[in-house]
Amino acid sequence: MFLRLCAFLSCVSFAVGYVQEVTFYTEYAFQGDALRLRSKHAELTPCQLKHIANTKTFCAVGSWQGFEGQNYTGRVRFTSTSGAAMNCQEKSFKYSPIKSLRYLGQLETLMPSISVNSGSNDSDTGGIERTFTNLAANNFGFIPAHLVLTGGSNWTGFSNEDFTGESTCFSTSELHVGISPHPSVVRSLFQGCDAKYGSEIYESAE
Ligand SMILES: *[C@@H]1O[C@H](CO)[C@@H](O)[C@H](O)[C@H]1NC(C)=O
Ligand SMILES: *[C@@H]1O[C@H](CO)[C@@H](O)[C@H](O)[C@H]1NC(C)=O
Ligand SMILES: *[C@@H]1O[C@H](CO)[C@@H](O)[C@H](O)[C@H]1NC(C)=O
Repeated sequence: MFLRLCAFLSCVSFAVGYVQEVTFYTEYAFQGDALRLRSKHAELTPCQLKHIANTKTFCAVGSWQGFEGQNYTGRVRFTSTSGAAMNCQEKSFKYSPIKSLRYLGQLETLMPSISVNSGSNDSDTGGIERTFTNLAANNFGFIPAHLVLTGGSNWTGFSNEDFTGESTCFSTSELHVGISPHPSVVRSLFQGCDAKYGSEIYESAE
């Protein structure tokens, strides 16, 4: 009976995920009008841009980035990385406006997934992002400059498109982790790691 309860409890504690979201407030102390976002915005609308320009405080859960240019290009001017805890701060965009905004990786952090980022001239996390939840992924169209793992999932990256070549095991037990794959070149990915590939091990506990 005791063992059963333990197994049940550890299962519950592992299953507490979170949804990434950010809320911008037009007044100090998280007052005034609020704009809450839970999706990726390659081009913020004029209405959203106006609200963000008037922002004085924000609260965010997860990992968010705002970029100087549309389509997640140019410099990163807004960053909030807090995991499941809510990060609440003062913030003005008056001298550093953003035109695009997104969370990194998957919205629901409990789901096993990997996201690959092309990177842009100014940021490894910028540019195109593609998210995979299936067991294998390739044909990215670029060599990833950044990886995001969710759901405590582990992935084997291969240097060739056909799941062969040099391999690296990207491993974590966290719900949301950002990893720079350098110097590994990753052209294809399998979910899970296996000693049979003789991979280099990259373990992240962010
Ligand atoms: C952003 O990407 C869209 C779709 O690919 C494209 O139509 C648009 O011109 C891009 N915007 C900028 C500023 O590059
Ligand atoms: C990025 O840098 C390369 C090489 O320096 C340049 O050719 C390209 O135009 C740049 N792209 C952008 C979007 O600034
Ligand atoms: C992934 O690897 C970690 C060790 O870094 C391990 O604790 C975890 O159980 C593994 N996850 C899965 C889904 O195999």
